[in-house]
Amino acid sequence: MLKRVLVTGKNGQLGLSIAKIAQDYPQYDMTFVGRDQLDLSQSQTIIEYFQSKTFNVIINCAAHTAVDKAESDPEIAIQVNYLAVKQMAKIAKDQNAILIHISTDYVFNGKNHKPYVETDPVDPINLYGQTKLKGEQSIYIIQPKGMVIRTSWLYSEFGDNFVKTMLRLGKERENLDVIYDQVGSPTFAGDLAKAIFDMLSRHFQFGKESLQTFHFSNEGICSWYDFAKTIFELSNIHCRVNPIETKDYPTPAKRPHYSVLNKLKIRQGYMLEISYWKDSLATCLNELEKI
Ligand SMILES: NC(=O)c1ccc[n+]([C@@H]2O[C@H](COP(=O)([O-])OP(=O)(O)OC[C@H]3O[C@@H](n4cnc5c(N)ncnc54)[C@H](OP(=O)(O)O)[C@@H]3O)[C@@H](O)[C@H]2O)c1
Repeated sequence: MLKRVLVTGKNGQLGLSIAKIAQDYPQYDMTFVGRDQLDLSQSQTIIEYFQSKTFNVIINCAAHTAVDKAESDPEIAIQVNYLAVKQMAKIAKDQNAILIHISTDYVFNGKNHKPYVETDPVDPINLYGQTKLKGEQSIYIIQPKGMVIRTSWLYSEFGDNFVKTMLRLGKERENLDVIYDQVGSPTFAGDLAKAIFDMLSRHFQFGKESLQTFHFSNEGICSWYDFAKTIFELSNIHCRVNPIETKDYPTPAKRPHYSVLNKLKIRQGYMLEISYWKDSLATCLNELEKI
């Protein structure tokens, strides 16, 4: 029997990346929804949507991801990243569905000097991170089957992201200032989408159903400065990149200085091979050329 899979956030980077490869997994009957069909800021809409529909898997890619805006307008971030997640966790439990929820490196404060493991203490330093953490915690209170996957520095050929911004600015300007004292690991959304399908298949094969948290990003570590330099090198763009400090680029929301995620658990638990960030960046740039 085909497993019925719901993906929220169908117009977001990850939602579109999942849709792009979904035909490679014909064992799943995929339903993709955007805010027009399932508005996560309206709890009544969520109730009504699931009243008539049941799923074997719910993949929650939707989130209020406007990190800076969330500082001055927290209500919507609380509703989408926390309360709606809590509601979906209850629905997943009632429907006996597997919930795959995407979370963030921003649950950590960035003071570590070695990659964060799943059990490291959480301590978000901005409102977005706080709401994402509350979302995670609500899932653990309700205990549906499934997993929380924390990722970082997501980019893709879709939507707005650092890679696309750099490509645009790099062509317009001769010089760019980019922060070098925030360090992390970029994640190509296409790689995360594939990892989600691979993990799901193993879930159904081996019955790995207890709720767990995993970290996923591409391999390797860089600063935003290194990331920008590499984007330009691989794209043959001649724009000078000046390394600057976070204090010279003030934003409403604070960002962690160090947010590298340790991926040992997901690599070993699911036998995943994770690509090096520069290789995945080259893949994404290649995809962008086709558009
Ligand atoms: N981007 C990153 O660097 C990053 C880093 C770490 C973790 N994450 C997490 O990874 C996941 C995927 O991120 P992403 O980059 O793919 O995000 P994204 O491109 O910003 O997409 C988020 C999606 O959520 C939808 N959404 C927002 N509010 C909604 C609402 N009220 N009702 C229904 N849908 C709503 C948006 O719909 P519209 O298209 O209609 O606006 C959008 O399609 C999220 O959980 C995010 O927190 C992202």
